Amino acid sequence: MTRTPVNVTVTGAAGQIGYALLFRIASGHLLGPDVPVNLRLLEIPQGLKAAEGTAMELDDCAFPLLRNIEITDDANVGFAGANVALLVGARPRTKGMERGDLLSANGGIFKPQGKAINDNAADDIKVLVVGNPANTNALIAQAAAPDVPAERFTAMTRLDHNRAISQLATRTGAAVSDIKRLTIWGNHSATQYPDIFHAEIAGKNAAEVVNDEAWLADTFIPTVAKRGAAIIEARGASSAASAANAAIDHVHTWVNGTADGDWTSMGIPSDGSYGVPEGIISSFPVTTKDGKYEIVQGLDINEFSRARIDASVKELTEERDAVRELGLI
Ligand code: NAD
Ligand code: LMR
Repeated sequence: MTRTPVNVTVTGAAGQIGYALLFRIASGHLLGPDVPVNLRLLEIPQGLKAAEGTAMELDDCAFPLLRNIEITDDANVGFAGANVALLVGARPRTKGMERGDLLSANGGIFKPQGKAINDNAADDIKVLVVGNPANTNALIAQAAAPDVPAERFTAMTRLDHNRAISQLATRTGAAVSDIKRLTIWGNHSATQYPDIFHAEIAGKNAAEVVNDEAWLADTFIPTVAKRGAAIIEARGASSAASAANAAIDHVHTWVNGTADGDWTSMGIPSDGSYGVPEGIISSFPVTTKDGKYEIVQGLDINEFSRARIDASVKELTEERDAVRELGLI
């Protein structure tokens, strides 16, 4: 059976994440091995030539699933008919720069892109914001797209989720594939809270397996939360291949579903669950099925977790207030 190609728009296509991302989308890792794709690469004018070079290389791969590539610096063209939009293009944080400084620099990008999505994307559009500060950029884009259901705007915390699984596997000697139900709560920032109290390692409670609250508080949480900064320090540039991999994971899971008995972490508009103020885009434990996600309900939140979730949520509400003051939402 010939399937209709899915239109996938990638912004910042000429950047380092874009370069790690596009070949995997085109080879079927985003949506599945039997789903053809049309790629739309959205760049700023200075990025168009490099995007053309990447498109030449994509052609040279002769990917059977890749139907066509369009390159543009016009957001209305870039998002026309988009079914999936990966908003990667942003100003990356550089050495010594705080994420908060990025709010105003990036707000101007995400408001017009949200409007262009509103006016041009397909009815089933799914949006993943990768560009930082991802949660608040997603809020800005979502606010500019009143005709698109709010829940279609998501922010990436899957990289944090994957980092936390990897750290936990290293500490316990478990296989990555044995670790389930880990949660990232809050913001994709140093305040995020990787929660292992509901996680399982080969069916056993992860916090009980670790049984070391000092390691949790002083090593695990800061290592995961500050990993982005550590990569910048080491590479002199922010994470790229691992970020692209997480973007692939995020959309693949959203479209294709979580495994039975497991969940993932996504930055999504809060419905007020777990005391997170409605509307802010915060990371939650979610299950996905048939292209929709649901927050995992009924988890007991202990005091240790509560304080950390609240701290990250407080940062998100401050970011929301800041962009509101800037007239971006
Ligand atoms: P990069 O500088 O290599 O590439 C960014 C690209 O975006 C450039 O090619 C630039 O021309 C383009 N761009 C800028 N403004 C644009 C616009 N308005 N429309 C279209 N394209 C535009 O950066 P990168 O390393 O690819 O990182 C991209 C973003 O992802 C950064 O904000 C970075 O902080 C963020 N990031 C997020 C996570 C996460 O886990 N959420 C992880 C890593 C990086
Ligand atoms: C990451 O988590 O690797 C990035 O978000 C770091 C950054 O601030 O760009």
